[in-house]
Amino acid sequence: MLDFSTGEPDFKPPAAVTATVSEFLRTRPVHYPPVAGLTELREEVALQLGAVHGRAFSSAEVMVSAGAKHALANLFMVTLSPGDEVVILAPYWVSYPDMVRLAGGVPRVATARIEDRWQIRPEALAAVLGPRTRFVVINSPSNPTGAVLSGAEIQAIVALIEELAPSAWLILDDIYRRLVYGDAKHVSAFRALGDRFDRIVAVDGVSKSYAMTGYRIGFLLAPAPVIAAASRIQGQMTSGVAMPSQVAALAALRDPAGEEVLATMLGAFGRRRRLVIEEIGAIESVGFLPPDGAFYAFFDVRRHLGPGTPFADDLALATWLLERESVALVPGTPFGAPGHLRLSYATADEDLREGLSRLRAAFAALPVAG
Ligand SMILES: Cc1ncc(COP(=O)(O)O)c(C=O)c1O
Repeated sequence: MLDFSTGEPDFKPPAAVTATVSEFLRTRPVHYPPVAGLTELREEVALQLGAVHGRAFSSAEVMVSAGAKHALANLFMVTLSPGDEVVILAPYWVSYPDMVRLAGGVPRVATARIEDRWQIRPEALAAVLGPRTRFVVINSPSNPTGAVLSGAEIQAIVALIEELAPSAWLILDDIYRRLVYGDAKHVSAFRALGDRFDRIVAVDGVSKSYAMTGYRIGFLLAPAPVIAAASRIQGQMTSGVAMPSQVAALAALRDPAGEEVLATMLGAFGRRRRLVIEEIGAIESVGFLPPDGAFYAFFDVRRHLGPGTPFADDLALATWLLERESVALVPGTPFGAPGHLRLSYATADEDLREGLSRLRAAFAALPVAG
């Protein structure tokens, strides 16, 4: 089976990470960690995110959690009251709506379309903003589309927030921040908005940039009182994140070798992305926009669904591709985007080449709706 469903880099973490963890385990007892994270790690994150966002952050504005996922879950747990609404832009990362619901909130989805280059239409966003909106989540680069928000798009979203949801905050899911290609640049919302809007929190981490998904380290960047509340939740639910993982994350952030791993990954992902653009872009019946970031291609297969085709929906088509072609893609429905498929190119070049050629042949032979 050729598996293009994974959400993690197919690389090893920097050598400094493994060496530091081994040394730590050999020489130090592994005690309970500080609940909100190792001080040196929180300081380093505050420093590095300060440089990214053009603001001075203190370590009291940073909490270390078990992945960006846990950072976000903690944030929702401490901030949402029953009935509070969280605006999520579809296509979205599958976990957002359930996380909001688990914390007692109500997800409100605004859908962006491939026809609009994945830019959210103001009327679609306006329809879900209101006095109960507590947060608007933006994820750039996006999982699943790979779209990267420009400064102007961020400003347009915030202008609508100010008009229609005056107490809402912006959540930045910046987990793919460093994975951008070609001329694309990740734009810091803090920088794009300057002093005009400061109700911003961010989640970030080492999972994708340093190929450290299994270490489970993520960061929440938020005002100190929110961090204090979130660390009370974390203290009761999980305690601080495993010390070896925190030490590993610090090594990744501090060691220049961390940058080398990122550069290697960017080289490989960039090469594979070009291959994907060439091959998927050549399938006429499929709608496709070259992704600017992350490591996913998200394409529109609606012409192959419904009356006159063998498939009722994207789930049926994905199942058929798996069974007939042994190609595993993720259907769009769980991302809030029925009629699409996601391909992850965090896979070996040979597999990708073979998978893409199977996809081209399969789509060429499949009927399109009348
Ligand atoms: C958009 C997005 N946010 C957050 C995460 C979670 O990252 P972590 O592994 O650090 O929890 C993922 C992982 O797939 C993701 O795609």
